Amino acid sequence: MLETKLTVPFYGHVRQYHNIQSEIDTNMKRVLESGQYVLGPMLTRFEQELAYFHGTKYAIGVGNGTDALWLTFQALGIGPGDECITTTNTFFATAEAIWFTGATVVFVDSDARTNCIDPASIEAAITPRTKLLVPVHLYGQCADMKSIRKIADKHKLRVVEDNAQAICGRGDGFKIGELSDAATISFIIQKNLGTFGDGGAIVTNDQEVDRIVRKLRNHGSEKRSCHSMGYNSRLDDLHAAVLSAKLKHIAEWSEQRRTWAARYSKGLAGGKNITLPFEAPGFYHVYHLYVIETKQAKHRDSLLQFLNNAGIDAKCHYPIAIHQQDGYPWGHQARIAGSIPNSERNAACCVSLPMFPELTAEEVDYTIEKVLAWDGSAR
Ligand SMILES: Cc1ncc(COP(=O)(O)O)c(C=O)c1O
Repeated sequence: MLETKLTVPFYGHVRQYHNIQSEIDTNMKRVLESGQYVLGPMLTRFEQELAYFHGTKYAIGVGNGTDALWLTFQALGIGPGDECITTTNTFFATAEAIWFTGATVVFVDSDARTNCIDPASIEAAITPRTKLLVPVHLYGQCADMKSIRKIADKHKLRVVEDNAQAICGRGDGFKIGELSDAATISFIIQKNLGTFGDGGAIVTNDQEVDRIVRKLRNHGSEKRSCHSMGYNSRLDDLHAAVLSAKLKHIAEWSEQRRTWAARYSKGLAGGKNITLPFEAPGFYHVYHLYVIETKQAKHRDSLLQFLNNAGIDAKCHYPIAIHQQDGYPWGHQARIAGSIPNSERNAACCVSLPMFPELTAEEVDYTIEKVLAWDGSAR
């Protein structure tokens, strides 16, 4: 009998577009016909929808998730001499945005099971120069914000949630944006709420953060022809049109991601050479990525290759931790506080299986079958 071979893509952008094409097209046409494409009414509408969705007072659309981070850091007055604590097992932009301000990045370890920042490691890394904590809601699961808030209160620190990956996620009794100074979002196409290109936003309850970021994103201007130093980083109205249409579906898409995650976890439960993602009790993980780890680092590339050869577009997020990349720290200030074995293990062993709402059960089951086939032969 011939073996069936599917190809399983990593992203479902076009499938998603086809599913809600009329909603997106209607919104985009509205912008095109309005003649207002930058800082226009569609952006205002989307900012209101985004703030309402998060239950925050303000939402500000910017050019991308990296700008969302560093414009917020600027608004909080972070600069040279300040220390900002985060993790190395994240996308480069988290640290890069801190470095843009001239501040020092202090890397601490992540939690062994969630891979988000470990609160106990934060406490140990605090010095009189520490100003800011930047937890990353990695792979779609919120960091332990209740513990982080306690530490921030005790040491009078600011907190910015890098929420590029977990829109619609929740913690055990807290929402994103509730326990911090601000949360930043990325809308690059591959994110859970993605536009057809780049985009980002900040949600906050802090009126000053809102005012300063709005000013910074628009050439330091609050009033026509009156400027101070700023940047050009606005979310275009065409992107806002796409995002406004998609935001209406984010809850249903998050549920669908969780359904696929549960199917993966059930199907892969017997794997002897892999560790499955851990959802902290009471948390609502939105599985931006479904990341398994090989128990041995030497197995990671073999699993990835095996899946790719079987037509499954598995990937790694993020295979080289920031402090292990060539050139680190690129002339900037950085410090690793203590040892960071969990972050290093996560980077060395991670494999992301295809995960998007528009997957089919056949694609998920085929991926499970191939992971188990590799698992049975791994030495
Ligand atoms: C954790 C994290 N932080 C920041 C960013 C930066 O976002 P962007 O690519 O929109 O600049 C991303 C995604 O790309 C990310 O995954």
